[in-house]
Amino acid sequence: MDKPGFLESEFKRLVATRDDGPADDNVVPFSESARPPPNRQERERRFHALLNALPAAVYTTDANGLVTYYNDAAAALWGNRPALGQQEWCGSHEMLSPDGMPLPHDQSPMAVAIKENRPVRGLEGATLRPDGTCVPWLAYPTPLHDEDGHLVGAVNMLVDITERKQIEEQQSLMVRELHHRVKNTLATVQAIMGSTARSAETIEEFKTALIARIGSLARTHRLLTDDGPTVSFGDILKNELDAFDDGSEGRITLTGPEVKLSSQLAVSLGMAVHELTTNAAKFGALSMYGGKIDVNWAITIEKTRRTLTFNWVESSGPEVSEPLRHGFGSRLLDFVLPGQIQAKATVDYRREGVQIHCVVPLPLEDESDTADTACDPR
Ligand SMILES: Nc1ncnc2c1ncn2[C@@H]1O[C@H](COP(=O)(O)OP(=O)(O)O)[C@@H](O)[C@H]1O
Ligand SMILES: [Mg+2]
Repeated sequence: MDKPGFLESEFKRLVATRDDGPADDNVVPFSESARPPPNRQERERRFHALLNALPAAVYTTDANGLVTYYNDAAAALWGNRPALGQQEWCGSHEMLSPDGMPLPHDQSPMAVAIKENRPVRGLEGATLRPDGTCVPWLAYPTPLHDEDGHLVGAVNMLVDITERKQIEEQQSLMVRELHHRVKNTLATVQAIMGSTARSAETIEEFKTALIARIGSLARTHRLLTDDGPTVSFGDILKNELDAFDDGSEGRITLTGPEVKLSSQLAVSLGMAVHELTTNAAKFGALSMYGGKIDVNWAITIEKTRRTLTFNWVESSGPEVSEPLRHGFGSRLLDFVLPGQIQAKATVDYRREGVQIHCVVPLPLEDESDTADTACDPR
């Protein structure tokens, strides 16, 4: 019988060691066939057919590191079908180490396994395909030996970890966003506390206002956690105003299209709406039965700009006059909104009720988000 190929001899060695161990329920021994045993060429063909059927990228080299075989999954991973016996160490066009630096072929995991004559487990790297795409992998090269223990080559399996990398990337993005939000939230709480302390006349007043403001902030954050990274403007209004809707005819009217707001816009506008609502409850339309609030909003799209415009109109409440003092609510509209989200608000203290007009620049998005969102601003 002719000498077996090294793949096969390695396989036989593994099977032989298995035979020493206890019998396995899930291994059925090949029955002795009456047909003559297949020749070496046929056996190699069968091994290659077997390896080709595997979904993992597998290739072999000789003892000098020249690629002697690769399966279809390896060719797909490399995006390349190198000529056998010519390319050294790996069929990858180019390789990258985990830090993104070029990884020379003679320093690849396969080269390490052969040069040091030891199996290498789970080294990470990436293949840069000829078409420019990149596939991250873990490599498991194992040296192969003949019956006398001489190194005859090596087999390597590359495990594509693209999906794992994408999940890791997504996670670190979320952690960064979380850090960002926590930092902003703490700064906001600090600012709210300072301003509330300045405008409150008693400790009791300070406590009540602070609890309500932080409660409002928490509700906005809950909306952000529940509904994903954006919150709709309508939900922010409902968040504050729903509690005042006593069921009397037209007490609260909200009219406008669906507008998705990023976390920063949501937090700033959430605070503004909270202040407007509190003022309405303290001094305006929500302070007496029959008072009404009408909020309407629209989006305008120009070539380079997208803008949210909203009107807050109070009516049927107490008679209003120009205030003598300005507190936290006014400061928020006059300084915080322009500073944080470049929004401009004007407050008109009309006799029949306060009217606020606010213009908020939005980031440009593709039209699908804003299609048929025009509303009747009345
Ligand atoms: N919706 C409203 N209706 C009537 N008056 C209002 C309304 N909102 C605010 N004001 C007047 O404007 C003043 C300034 O409001 P604001 O800056 O929020 O400070 P504060 O609420 O601490 O008094 C209020 O004291 C009140 O006199
Ligand atoms: Mg106020």
